[in-house]
Amino acid sequence: MKIAVAKGDGIGPEIMDAVLTIFRMGKVPLEYEFVDMGKWVFDKGFSNGMTPEAQHTIEELGILFKGPMETPKGKGVKSVNVTARKTWNTYANKRVFQTLHGVDTVFSKAGIPIDITIVRENIEDTYGGIEHMLTQDVALSRRFITRPGSLQVIKYAFEMAKKNGARRITCGHKANIMKLTDGLFLECFMEVAKEYPELKADDIIVDDLAMKLVVRPQEFDVVVLTNLQGDIISDLCAGLVGGLGFAPSANIGDHIAIFEAVHGTAPDIAGKNIANPTALLLSGIAMLRHLGFMENAAIIENALLFTLEQKVHTGDFGDKSTPSLNTTQFAAAIIGNFGKTPVQGAKPILPNMTPTPTSFKLDRNEMMVTEETQKEYIVGVDFFIESSEQPVNIAKKCQRHGGVKFNLINISNRGTQVWPTGSVYTNLVNQYNVRFESIDGSPLNQMDVLGLYVSLSGDFKICSSELLNMWGGKKAYSLAQGQ
Ligand code: NAI
Repeated sequence: MKIAVAKGDGIGPEIMDAVLTIFRMGKVPLEYEFVDMGKWVFDKGFSNGMTPEAQHTIEELGILFKGPMETPKGKGVKSVNVTARKTWNTYANKRVFQTLHGVDTVFSKAGIPIDITIVRENIEDTYGGIEHMLTQDVALSRRFITRPGSLQVIKYAFEMAKKNGARRITCGHKANIMKLTDGLFLECFMEVAKEYPELKADDIIVDDLAMKLVVRPQEFDVVVLTNLQGDIISDLCAGLVGGLGFAPSANIGDHIAIFEAVHGTAPDIAGKNIANPTALLLSGIAMLRHLGFMENAAIIENALLFTLEQKVHTGDFGDKSTPSLNTTQFAAAIIGNFGKTPVQGAKPILPNMTPTPTSFKLDRNEMMVTEETQKEYIVGVDFFIESSEQPVNIAKKCQRHGGVKFNLINISNRGTQVWPTGSVYTNLVNQYNVRFESIDGSPLNQMDVLGLYVSLSGDFKICSSELLNMWGGKKAYSLAQGQ
């Protein structure tokens, strides 16, 4: 079986060489096709950080094992790491955080075992990076949470939890504030949970989750979150087990999967052969299991755990009073421990399975659309306008434009209502949301909205607008604070 490998930038080539040596000595039956991705590919003029040949190879082989890659600063280019995850729809980012004996943390010292798997949605949320300056003072980021995107990652999390015999699966969210976006994610979680009655499924508000993970991490098992919250919570969990040097990551999609360490290119230690290859090795072990190489994975993981248990370490962790090994020596120590098992937390050695091909050809983009069951119609419009005037003056001007179809309902500033009621103590910025709704609640069409747009633009610069829809008798938009 052949996989694509990109060594990456900075410490990438050093730790990748160490891991591939461990694989070779561990008789992992894989062949590697090395592909061109990373900073030097950007520098050669490929704006997405990979050559077309690299893209073709990865789409052909379906598995990418990658080292960290540098995103050139200030050149307007997007991270190749994020581009890869989004382009190939690796919708689930799975990161396993386990107590590693030999890696001292406050929890290991207190005898509190940690075994948490974070599944983070990997495509949507603010990571679309769709941002606009609405005025010179106001920046807007669009946060997309979709039903099909949420269902994909949540179904993966439940299936994985079931397969691994998890005791609990928890949805982390902020649906108390973001009722439509996080609310949709939570609704999808609850829907999927019904199909897995054998799993204890519950939810928790993300700030409470952060506190409880620090106080009682042993209570959590599988946690699924939206992208940004998952990003933050998974780094928090990395801290619980010893830092980023021990944090592996798998980006799973239906066609392509990417395995990488969580840390970056560590430019401060690049080229010195002192980097810790553990996170990339753990990512590689996860990849071996994903491909069905169970026996190889267990032998290598047991050798790694045994090595750590012996207090063998690179310079970035472990007992400073004992000499550290360099990257090559650390890999050699693991290879020397093949066949040994750690006293604590030994992994069962299961037979290899026949690998199932992960990649199959697509000839067009897959469309993921939920069948519409609810009646939908437009009842109004939000205009985001630039103005430094007081709310009452804005209201007077807006009311002139309502005509026979629209009522000015309210005006808000940064989400807080400032007209018809509000407080003079609410600070204002130079961008308001003026909300118009249909006078008698009857459905409107887009031409009505366009008419209002043209009329209102005589008085204000309209920075952005959103239709107000009703779906199945329910408002498909949020209310302003105080409305
Ligand atoms: P970083 O993770 O590269 O380094 C942070 C600190 O951790 C440094 O002191 C570094 O020496 C240390 N460190 C990281 N990995 C280590 C290892 N394996 N062994 C020993 N020490 C290690 O984060 P930073 O400095 O913020 O980012 C550097 C570059 O990496 C940036 O260009 C960034 O865009 C890129 N990056 C790439 C990622 C990826 O490819 N998935 C992820 C994160 C950052």
